[in-house]
Amino acid sequence: MNIGIIGVGYVGLVTGACLADQGNNVICMDVDASKISLLSGGRIPYYEPGLPQLLERNSAAGNLSFTTDLSLCMKSAEYLFICVGTPEGEDLFTDLRAINTVTDNLCNLLERNVVIVVKSTVPAGTTRKIYNKLQCALRESHKQLEVEVVSNPEFLSEGCAVEDFLIPDRIVIGTENGHLSEKMTRLYQNFINEKIPVMHTIYENAEMIKYASNALLAAKISYMNEIAAICEFYKADVRVVAQGMGYDRRIGNLFLKAGAGYGGSCFPKDTNALLLLGEQAGCAPGIVRETIKTNQNQIKLMLEKIKRNVEPLNGSMIGVLGVSFKPETDDIREAPAVAVIEQLLQEQAGVKVYDPRAMESFRRGSAKFELESEPDHGVICCSNAYDACTNVECIVLFTEWKEFEKLDFGYVRKLVSKPVFLDFRNFLSPEKLRGHGFVYEGIGVR
Ligand code: UDX
Repeated sequence: MNIGIIGVGYVGLVTGACLADQGNNVICMDVDASKISLLSGGRIPYYEPGLPQLLERNSAAGNLSFTTDLSLCMKSAEYLFICVGTPEGEDLFTDLRAINTVTDNLCNLLERNVVIVVKSTVPAGTTRKIYNKLQCALRESHKQLEVEVVSNPEFLSEGCAVEDFLIPDRIVIGTENGHLSEKMTRLYQNFINEKIPVMHTIYENAEMIKYASNALLAAKISYMNEIAAICEFYKADVRVVAQGMGYDRRIGNLFLKAGAGYGGSCFPKDTNALLLLGEQAGCAPGIVRETIKTNQNQIKLMLEKIKRNVEPLNGSMIGVLGVSFKPETDDIREAPAVAVIEQLLQEQAGVKVYDPRAMESFRRGSAKFELESEPDHGVICCSNAYDACTNVECIVLFTEWKEFEKLDFGYVRKLVSKPVFLDFRNFLSPEKLRGHGFVYEGIGVR
């Protein structure tokens, strides 16, 4: 099949590379010329395991290419995937400007029959509007084309996005057109087996499945963070409580980890969007609201923990291990670490930061931080974990990168000026850290 991908963010690039790897001809398009030039040169603008190999293999084979030219991307495409960002606007509503611009451009440029696949996360009703707009444009321009639109939300987790694409939990195909459903099933036939359910449903259901899934996952995390706070008071251990809960098949053992709270490009924006969608619908989605509130409160709780252990904060030096919103990604969007670092700086603390993959995005995304200029009150970017732990009064772990498990904590103990370790992902063994003479605190951990 000939496939065009519009937007080469995480979703677009993973989708394009995985579909190319299945033998399709894929052209990826983006308005960001710098990204396209990187990709054309074989480089990926972010870290995602497995993606470089796919890019290399399929670019070399000639079935994956990149362009800034939408007409070229559309020229022979039988399927056009819309994968542009739908970020949160200043009013917290989903900012649909990019997807609206793409739709307008498609209206003008369509010259052949095509299936338009909406992968971007959009509020319920958006895909139908896109469909109506395209049909209206075709009528007005008297173009006798068969342009179909399908909602096909993505469920890719950063860090394992390639695997999620190749072995999905489910495929959701939103269209009322049976023939189109079949076409989409054909496109995904290599990924489908008896273990992977394919759901055929209407646009609005497909769109809602995405928001409702992300909000429930976020709610599980916030719920566990609330349980963690209660555990802390009663001297219970949330990790053990989560394990006991997880054996119940109705609950499941995933997304029960208490910690720094959820971040990233999806949960924060999707929960906010769902709350607003609910309010617009005249409902009061209290669970979604409290999920968001608990997640925001987690930042305060972490800051309080730091303050309790570092007195005074003003003029102190804190070592930060991990700034990405989760391991195996260099993405720092809505990362809890970034929010806490901002607060620490406001309180006149100095911060030493190390992340195995995210230092570049941290530097780029942290214009508001004074990097390395005023070591006592700014941020020092470190090239390894040991540097970030040297002469600090407290080490704070925000991301559960595997390499942090392997640190020589006996050596780290010698580097610090005070042995305090705050493990905000409940990642390391309290016994081990305490054995090395650290005061160890997790989130809801004994
Ligand atoms: C999420 C969804 O999982 C994916 O299906 C969707 O399409 C995009 O959004 P992603 O944002 O990449 O994916 O990361 P995810 O693994 O879901 O983690 C989100 C946040 O929750 C991270 O900050 C992570 O650290 C946190 N988290 C996750 C917890 O705090 N506890 C957990 O038990 C699980």
